[in-house]
Amino acid sequence: MAVERTLSIIKPDATKRNLTGKINAKFEDAGLRIIAQKRVQLTMEQAGTFYEVHKERPFYGELCEFMVSEPVVLQVLEGEGAILKNREVMGATNPADAAPGTIRADFALSVGENSVHGSDAPETAAAEIAYFFAGLELVG
Ligand code: CMP
Repeated sequence: MAVERTLSIIKPDATKRNLTGKINAKFEDAGLRIIAQKRVQLTMEQAGTFYEVHKERPFYGELCEFMVSEPVVLQVLEGEGAILKNREVMGATNPADAAPGTIRADFALSVGENSVHGSDAPETAAAEIAYFFAGLELVG
């Protein structure tokens, strides 16, 4: 399986509850390397553009408001099959459906406040990483 990179976001509900280290431990225990990481306060414009694919969804406004409500931690994770592996470590979008031991089962509060975001495919991973990180910030 190929070594891949994927974008991860530790969301406001998790940064607010001081869960960054516990979430990072789950990534690292699964063999994902955190090759870039920065804690930032997103602007409404950044959140809106990042989630533009969901613009027509009824929850878009609520999602953007939530993403700017507290700082987030932006990360690039690297590893064998990192995109799928990260989705397994995160668990289902709705924590009610997430498998035991996953980040969302252990920490998420609701489908909206679901603690983490992860890219869903190679094309989106490349675009999402490039949206938040410059090439020089990725040292591997
Ligand atoms: P994420 O993986 O960041 O991608 C889009 C986000 O939209 C998703 O995680 C959820 O947090 C959010 N989302 C999806 N469905 C709903 C919903 N019904 N209500 C609120 N937020 C939602």
